[in-house]
Amino acid sequence: MRIAFVGKGGSGKTTTAALVARHLAEQGRPVLAIDADINQHLGQALGACPDTDGPPPRALGADLPWLKDHLRGANPRIPSAEAMIKTTPPGRGSRLLDLDPGGELMRRYAGTAGGVRYLVTGEFDEADIGVSCYHSKTGAVELYLNHLVDGPGEYVVVDMTAGADAFASGLFTRFDLTVLVCEPTRRGVGVHRQYAEHAAGHGVALRVLGNKIDDSEDVAFLHAHVGDALLGWFTRSAWVRAAERGAVAPVATLEPENRAVLDTVVAALDACERDWAAYHRGTIEFHLRNAAAWGNRAVDADLAAQIDPDFVPGPSLQEV
Ligand SMILES: Nc1ncnc2c1ncn2[C@@H]1O[C@H](COP(=O)(O)OP(=O)(O)OP(=O)(O)O)[C@@H](O)[C@H]1O
Ligand SMILES: [Mg+2]
Repeated sequence: MRIAFVGKGGSGKTTTAALVARHLAEQGRPVLAIDADINQHLGQALGACPDTDGPPPRALGADLPWLKDHLRGANPRIPSAEAMIKTTPPGRGSRLLDLDPGGELMRRYAGTAGGVRYLVTGEFDEADIGVSCYHSKTGAVELYLNHLVDGPGEYVVVDMTAGADAFASGLFTRFDLTVLVCEPTRRGVGVHRQYAEHAAGHGVALRVLGNKIDDSEDVAFLHAHVGDALLGWFTRSAWVRAAERGAVAPVATLEPENRAVLDTVVAALDACERDWAAYHRGTIEFHLRNAAAWGNRAVDADLAAQIDPDFVPGPSLQEV
């Protein structure tokens, strides 16, 4: 099951994503964290230690031809990596992925930090600017998630870019639960309103997690503005401040009220159910949009032909 952390710049997306991921890992549950922000801070927030964790992992967006060749596998509808855009859906012959750390993709791209396995999308570099089909590094995460068959009891925790930038692609529809991290400020709840408007009609389960809460007035403010969407709230945390200064401790030692919020978040995610058919319809919808907007022109082909009409990814398919 997949959870994304979104919200205003500086609201605490990376901090809360890292806490949830480390909490799950400390409980021995299978978890993969993904840094889908082009400003890469998740590894640090997870507590990456150069001595024990080694160098940062290879970026998922750094070698798109390899990633695309790997994912298209033997799919006859996708003749080359060049013909594959960030929204190209899997079909028969495509390589579907799982979270097994021994898998080829995981061995190539995953690093570990603070006991959590994680992937990073990569930062922008000069070569990305003005290149039509590779203009978004987060496209690599979209491709990855569109080919991932994850199930209940497996967790993918994604730290997203700030504000409405997440809507630059279909990535915002790829999650079972989207948590908007929100400080009790007008700008914080304004981002929630904007996000809810953009996400409407796309089947996004959007909840709000208050952050840096000082008192009951802060909570009342959030309640008044987001109502039942409020899932819970983190108080301003001395533990987080200490971690920020380099004193990384087990999440088991986080303030009890904040630890309880982590359980609330995980329970909300566990309560979600993936509808694979609806999920795949979303994949196709965004592919057709991208094909019409720029993909067909960029690749000089009708990319609608990449859609395999009889195919829906999911666990039953993997067992075949
Ligand atoms: N509950 C908290 N208590 C104390 N400090 C916090 C809390 N949550 C986040 N912070 C601090 O707030 C700052 C911003 O947090 P963070 O980097 O997680 O935000 P972000 O939303 O990921 O930012 P960006 O938009 O830049 O990616 C950091 O210094 C972090 O340590
Ligand atoms: Mg961040």
